[in-house]
Amino acid sequence: MSKSYRLLVKNAKLVVLICNNGEKFLTKHGMQNLSVIENGSVVIGSDGLIKAVGPAEVIGAQYPEGSFDKVIDASGMCVLPGLVDAHTHPVWAGDRVHEFAMKLAGATYMDVHRAGGGIHFTVEHTRAARSSELLGSLSSRLVRMQRAGTTLVECKSGYGLDLQTEVKMLEVIEEARRTLPINISSTYCGAHATVEEATKDILQVQLPRLKEQMSAGTLRVDNIDVFCEQGVFDLGSTRSILQAGKDLGLNINFHGDELHPMNSAQLGAELGALAISHLEEPRARDMLEAGVIVALGSDFNPNAYCCSMPIVMHLACVNMRMSMPEALAAATINAAYALGRSHTHGSLEVNKHGDLLVLNTTRWEHLIYQLGGHQELIRYVVIKGNIV
Ligand code: NIG
Ligand code: FE
Repeated sequence: MSKSYRLLVKNAKLVVLICNNGEKFLTKHGMQNLSVIENGSVVIGSDGLIKAVGPAEVIGAQYPEGSFDKVIDASGMCVLPGLVDAHTHPVWAGDRVHEFAMKLAGATYMDVHRAGGGIHFTVEHTRAARSSELLGSLSSRLVRMQRAGTTLVECKSGYGLDLQTEVKMLEVIEEARRTLPINISSTYCGAHATVEEATKDILQVQLPRLKEQMSAGTLRVDNIDVFCEQGVFDLGSTRSILQAGKDLGLNINFHGDELHPMNSAQLGAELGALAISHLEEPRARDMLEAGVIVALGSDFNPNAYCCSMPIVMHLACVNMRMSMPEALAAATINAAYALGRSHTHGSLEVNKHGDLLVLNTTRWEHLIYQLGGHQELIRYVVIKGNIV
């Protein structure tokens, strides 16, 4: 018979990431001063939500161990909130390893794209793939992400570019949401590459269909994305597509200034975007100094095959001059904020989802420091109080 509480994790060093400012994100000062409980415990209830977080002796006195389905003694270990991957393109068919070779030999992303490769190659294979095949590969990619500590992941469509395949991709994401433990935030990214009359088709055919399916309850979509880029979607088309998505109640979270400066930040501010991805012109360090809320994502896609947020954090530290606490905040609470989920995810706080990592180390920084070392370091990944 199941007991009153699902899980107790006791005697750990807890990195709780509480936002003391009453906001649900951290900027520079908060990111540099993460809240830590040296010897703490976390209680997760049978509904999968956090019931208590605090010093081990206080929790121990209030919650008898017999009332838990499972107890993890995490002495000598660290506990972090589950990692959040704020940006991925994980639904696709076809193999693009040959493009990696082309790029190593000097081709640019746009050279490959114009030669009919890149997104177009993936679109052709994804259109031809059966849903079951897409679900199979999506599930194994999500499991790899989960093993590397991701407990909430954003998943984009965008390799269909036509009504039928975009809906197929979103339905596959929906099926993954129903069948896998990992939390998913889904994004309609039909404006990922231009095909003839793309903007018109998105506005007049695809978005109205999403609206129908969303109101009928047959599809859930959380965000809308557009690849705002020279030779892809210009500012004007980006504005109208994002606005139409916003009118359906979707969060705006779009690709801006990835390859060329496009003034995407200004457009994002004008539309009330929740997040803009890439922005590769401004340096992350300058954005942090200016008080911008910085989040991290893997951008997992056939052009950037990385399932691991610990590796993303390592790269952010080494290449973008972020500190380890900044990278952790950017890959948890701030990434959750970028998905509109920071009231329920991204930190160890009462009433949030019981999603956490137990690390085999007394110093949580090893998760970032040891490049590719997460397999040894992550002892348990917990989602809604269940070890997955
Ligand atoms: O984030 N920028 C557009 N989309 C992806 C690449 C997609 C692809 O090449 O398949 C990105 O880089
Ligand atoms: Fe992307």
